[in-house]
Amino acid sequence: MNAPDHYNIRDIVSYLAELFASQGDQEYLGEQVTMATHMLQAAMFAEQQDGSDAEIAAALLHDVGHFVNDIDAGVAEHGQDAYHEVAGAEFLARFFPAEVVEPVRQHVASKRYLCAVDPAYFDKLSPAPVHTLNLQGGPMTDDEVTVFERNPHLDACIRVRKWDEAGKDPALPHPDFEHYRSLLESLILRR
Ligand SMILES: [Fe+2]
Repeated sequence: MNAPDHYNIRDIVSYLAELFASQGDQEYLGEQVTMATHMLQAAMFAEQQDGSDAEIAAALLHDVGHFVNDIDAGVAEHGQDAYHEVAGAEFLARFFPAEVVEPVRQHVASKRYLCAVDPAYFDKLSPAPVHTLNLQGGPMTDDEVTVFERNPHLDACIRVRKWDEAGKDPALPHPDFEHYRSLLESLILRR
């Protein structure tokens, strides 16, 4: 199933809903939750903690790059030799503004940033993100921190990363994808 090229707003949100339904039951990288539960819980925390609509959408969609096999061929090719956050961001950039896309693109970098500047954050990480942190380059260097802090979406990137970390509780009820449909529809770029 390919993302619609000539889409209307309902089409693309329905496409995202279908990705969650068809691929959301994948295991989330060594955690006790599925991919769908993880992303829906991240969005729930964003909503509970007064995230902006764009931040809620970014939390909901931050790992959509893991569904890369079902995203259209161009992004899938990219995803195989790049990283899921890049594949997800490039897909989302076709439909959503930078306020949604940047926290998705930077959510791995944000972990590396927070591990460099906030020891308490590192101490709270579960084993899986600690393992991937090492594969992803470890905590940022001072120079990388300086560059990262120039990102105009820095605050949103950090908030989304913390909600990403929080969404890992298999016992915690959460809204379903449809709860976010109108919010997503309101954010999609009108071209
Ligand atoms: Fe995640």
